[in-house]
Amino acid sequence: MTSPLLWYLNRGTGVVLVVVFTLTVVLGVLATGRGVSRWWPRFVTQGLHRALASLSVLLLLAHALVAVVDEYVDIRWWQTVVPFGSTYEPLWLGLGTVALDLTVVVVATSLARARLPHRLWFLVHLTTYAAWLLGVVHGLGIGTDADLGWSVVLTATCVGVVVLAGLSRLIGVTLGRRRAERERWDADERSVGVVAGGSR
Ligand code: HEM
Repeated sequence: MTSPLLWYLNRGTGVVLVVVFTLTVVLGVLATGRGVSRWWPRFVTQGLHRALASLSVLLLLAHALVAVVDEYVDIRWWQTVVPFGSTYEPLWLGLGTVALDLTVVVVATSLARARLPHRLWFLVHLTTYAAWLLGVVHGLGIGTDADLGWSVVLTATCVGVVVLAGLSRLIGVTLGRRRAERERWDADERSVGVVAGGSR
């Protein structure tokens, strides 16, 4: 089966997917960071993060399904999970497939989060950055609209927003570690003072 509608659907879901995926990543960063207040509690950010993550998965499934159903180009169902095996744009399509595989693992570990060690869940969750980046590069490489002005501006905005969010998280983690070290050091100093004062 083939029709221009399927092609438009594939392109449209791809573009919307990059935007929703970007918002999901940013809200994930905000949900773990300190961007909370009495008027904007953490559970609101976390709820939005989960809702957008679910929407991303639905869009990704629809995007890949339409690519397979549209027979104008030869993409088999298994090529949505096994990367680099297609005759059509093997590299660019393969990057999208790896992004899908990573997303499946992230979703599966998030559903089983309560039964997994926190560190394992967290390390797997970090691969979301890689999935997002691979998805963006896939779109740039394979997209019909990728070099149109609006598409360039949209992609650049998404990249800028995720880079800013990632940097703010890195800075937050580094400052948090420094603060903890200083507090530990202060506590050690105080206990040495108490021992020295007590022995007089
Ligand atoms: C996180 C994963 C993915 C993201 C973020 C993503 C995003 C995108 C974007 C932004 C485009 C460009 C649309 C345009 O400008 O025309 C695109 C195109 C495309 N994607 Fe994906 N995609 C992903 C995964 C996949 C997968 C798994 C498949 C199927 C195996 C796939 C198949 C295609 C195809 C065939 C096109 C070309 C559409 C055209 O002719 O322009 N994508 N994708």
